[in-house]
Amino acid sequence: MATPADGSPNLQVLDHPLIQHKMSFLRSVETGHRPFRALVAQIAGLMVFETTRTFPTVRVDIETPLEMTKCQRIARPITLVPVLRAGLAMAEGVLEVMPEARVGHIGLLRDEETLKPVTYLSKLPPDLAAGPVLLLDPMLATGGSAARACHLLRESGATDIRLLCLVATPEGVSRLGRDHPDIPVYTAALDRELNEFGYILPGLGDAGDRLYGT
Ligand code: PRP
Ligand code: URA
Repeated sequence: MATPADGSPNLQVLDHPLIQHKMSFLRSVETGHRPFRALVAQIAGLMVFETTRTFPTVRVDIETPLEMTKCQRIARPITLVPVLRAGLAMAEGVLEVMPEARVGHIGLLRDEETLKPVTYLSKLPPDLAAGPVLLLDPMLATGGSAARACHLLRESGATDIRLLCLVATPEGVSRLGRDHPDIPVYTAALDRELNEFGYILPGLGDAGDRLYGT
């Protein structure tokens, strides 16, 4: 079940009990990097159900062991684009349910002083316009990284972009809405605010560090 938040028409908070249950463990300071990685993947996999709901399908004729029948298949190639590093664990979970998806990569680092994103990698399939793109990054904090990633995807021809994150802030959602009003944002949680260092409160800490134990 998805609940649009007031004033942010492009935001859907995925409040399914299973997702919320797993988020409680993800947020806990007591969760080590190995279970943390598994939880990120599991939650991202659960989010796929809602975020792909409007994917176009085509009819196919299939022969069962008994007779011919009509089925539906996803019509267009799907591309996953994790934002390094933290998006990688989400991609693992999404690939579990959509193993046929292609994977592009965007590498961004947030400058610790300015909080602005620095791009260090953009490796994307050449025909991004051929189908929907799921942009994966667990944290939407100031929104600078997501806005930059969407810009890079658009430059490479993507037209149907959907952002999946685990924790978002009102600031990040507004920033993305201003820069890319047509891009839907799906999140497992909408948190209260950013602290003075750009960390999300209550949040879950530094996602990349918690994933990889650095
Ligand atoms: C984190 C996160 C986002 C970004 C969000 O990445 O994965 O990409 O911060 O912050 P923003 O909305 O304020 O731009 P980080 O820069 O820590 O890199 P990492 O994943 O390699 O640790
Ligand atoms: N990036 C993170 O990993 N965590 C935050 O709280 C904000 C940005």
